[in-house]
Amino acid sequence: MHARAVAASTTALLGTAALLLPLSPARAADSGARPVVVAHRGASAYAPENTLAAVDQAAALGVDWVENDVQRTKDGELVVVHDDSLQRTTDVEEVFPDRAPWKVKDFTAAEIARLDAGSWFGPAYAGARVPTLEQFVHRVERHDQKLLLEIKNPQLYPGIERQTLKVLSNEGWLDRPHVKHRLIVQSFSADSVRTVHDLKPAVKTGFLGTPPVADLPSYAAFTDQINPSYASLSSGYVAAVHAFRGPHGRPLEVFTWTVNDADAARRVAGFGVDGIITNTPDVVREAVGG
Ligand code: G3P
Ligand code: CA
Repeated sequence: MHARAVAASTTALLGTAALLLPLSPARAADSGARPVVVAHRGASAYAPENTLAAVDQAAALGVDWVENDVQRTKDGELVVVHDDSLQRTTDVEEVFPDRAPWKVKDFTAAEIARLDAGSWFGPAYAGARVPTLEQFVHRVERHDQKLLLEIKNPQLYPGIERQTLKVLSNEGWLDRPHVKHRLIVQSFSADSVRTVHDLKPAVKTGFLGTPPVADLPSYAAFTDQINPSYASLSSGYVAAVHAFRGPHGRPLEVFTWTVNDADAARRVAGFGVDGIITNTPDVVREAVGG
């Protein structure tokens, strides 16, 4: 659909709120631009998710963007791990058999550092560790990559937004080049995304989910991206998101997840998404040329 037609149909949907719409948002599908490809939890089809090996694998594939999940240990260290429990992706059950349900928040950083986060994936990765956020950003920096950082389960970790920004600042990731080109902070929690925006307005942010179109004006006050599951996506929804400008004055973007096959990648690229988050970045890049 042409941008003006999109704005018109979105106007019909939104009534007076549509006064906020730009007339001609230049979007990926219209411009022929290719979506950015993001390695989800690193190149997690080929190496254990959220480990340094998964970052290395993304780099080996020539993938610029890496996504991760950040949570907090019992003693206040930020670590990169997806589930709120260590059970699925480490050998915690063997090392600490009496500590069920093995929640991240119930283990110290030193305890987590002892765990094997690679053997579950394959013997070649035995000994991989759950990285700290510091270690993770060092590795991303070493490869000159970019980071889509997810604050995971923020309701479990009061203050994690401020702490995450502090670590990023300490590691040099809040200077202008990083903030402008190499960092996005996202969450499923709108409150968390809003908090990041309020604390550091320059940082680009993303909300994970598919809010109703009528609610997009309120999201556009604090998030630069609306990042939905590809299963719930349509070209109309992408166009409706693109019709709004975010807190930095640019049209809202859409990075969709988790797209692991070529057909789905081509489909969402056809919808005009700005980014595709994938466990198989090589497959998606081949399909869409990102
Ligand atoms: O980046 C999007 C995606 O990571 C959201 O889902 O559960 O894999 O963190 P999840
Ligand atoms: Ca994630």
